[in-house]
Amino acid sequence: MSTNSSQDPSTPPAQCPHRSQAPLQPQAPPKLSPNAAMSAFRSVAHFVSKGVIRALKPVKIFAYETEVAPLKNAILSATTFVDFCLIFANVQNDTMLLHEEVYGGSFLFGRGVMVVEHARTARDITLPPLRGNNFMGVSIVASDANMFATNAAILNQSTPARGAARDFLDQNVFNKTWTQDSVEDALAQTLSDWKSNPDMANYLVIRAAVTRVFIKLLRDVDVPVDEATFVTQQYMQRFVESSLFAGYFPAMLDLLGTYKAIREDAYFKLRARGIDLLTIDVTLFAAMFSVGTIVIRCVKLAKDNNLRYQDLSPEKKLNFVYEAVRLQPTVTSVHRKLDDREQVEVAGHRITLGVGDELVYPFVCSNRDEDVFPNAEKLDLNRPTSQRDAVLSWSRGAHVCPAKDLSIFVTIAMLDALSARYDFATLDIFSPEF
Ligand code: HEM
Repeated sequence: MSTNSSQDPSTPPAQCPHRSQAPLQPQAPPKLSPNAAMSAFRSVAHFVSKGVIRALKPVKIFAYETEVAPLKNAILSATTFVDFCLIFANVQNDTMLLHEEVYGGSFLFGRGVMVVEHARTARDITLPPLRGNNFMGVSIVASDANMFATNAAILNQSTPARGAARDFLDQNVFNKTWTQDSVEDALAQTLSDWKSNPDMANYLVIRAAVTRVFIKLLRDVDVPVDEATFVTQQYMQRFVESSLFAGYFPAMLDLLGTYKAIREDAYFKLRARGIDLLTIDVTLFAAMFSVGTIVIRCVKLAKDNNLRYQDLSPEKKLNFVYEAVRLQPTVTSVHRKLDDREQVEVAGHRITLGVGDELVYPFVCSNRDEDVFPNAEKLDLNRPTSQRDAVLSWSRGAHVCPAKDLSIFVTIAMLDALSARYDFATLDIFSPEF
């Protein structure tokens, strides 16, 4: 397996003792790293996407203003497909930020009206959620119930099913109080196994480590490394398939055998180890995706900001993780279907929404609201606790992420392990994202 990381600390860079006498060799053209190639692609995608967003803006506003419902539905069907494609070109958070920039505030995306103000988001996300099958207003990520071991994405359930699932989780899965120390104690062997992997900084190895970490913490089971790697890889592959095809080309999933394979190669492997189905969903969907992503993003954020993670105090490490999750939330949004009329100001238009319409709250926007976070774009490890508490990325209210603290403790434990071996400035972890 290739590491996709640029430094192996056990191998010092080769030094040529006679460098000045070395014969001139024809220089091979410099290799473009996968990350550099991806970022070049993203720059072009951002530029083109802005044009697309500008062109679609008046069309979408018209759709929300017309009284002719079939016309509205037809327009939104077409524009939702374009928005779905924009996510793969730009990645979720950047797609949200591009829209906010073009609309100058709240915006229209997929079948959702996206609210960017912190105050309204903080208030609305605590309301009892009526959920639909979209995520971020489009058919992606959590929208395919068949992809869950429990056959239901907990995030898409409405009460009372969601409340019952949460009660089960509180009583059976998240029933311990963790601290940074107790997490690190419980994970001593798991992290040591991860450190002994020569490809420790490879994105799949990191994500497989996250799978092992959470099964250890939540169920005290040690999944063998090879099995965790296989399960994680299969899960990610099948999830990408579902995200790509469930909404617009479901026949493809039959062809690929996605639903059968995710059960055979991921869920039933863990179930055979005595893990209940809800814990399997929670570990692979919530933990592996979120914490795996945030660990990788933290490395990049430290590198981009010339920050030596290993030199930070425990308090600053905490602030660093909060800042990373503020700037790059791993759960991009939450949403609610309306059971009454509500209004939103979109690009100077007062848009009235009715029962069944969907309001979406993209955290990457509310977390950058200058009224709450001065210099919001900046990574700032000195933000006061009040600003830390204002970060909305774990949501709020009855369905606040039950693993908020745990996810932070684990991220710090994993970054500590990774930084003991690598200087983040030298790492270039390639991680496919959408
Ligand atoms: C950086 C890490 C994480 C972030 C930013 C995050 C964020 C969130 C958010 C925003 C929600 C609410 C979603 C909604 O209402 O639609 C949520 C719910 C949830 N999260 Fe997390 N999460 C993280 C890590 C984790 C981890 C590690 C686990 C499990 C070990 C987890 C388990 C859950 C569960 C089970 C729910 C559903 C709670 C309910 O419906 O009552 N999350 N998370």
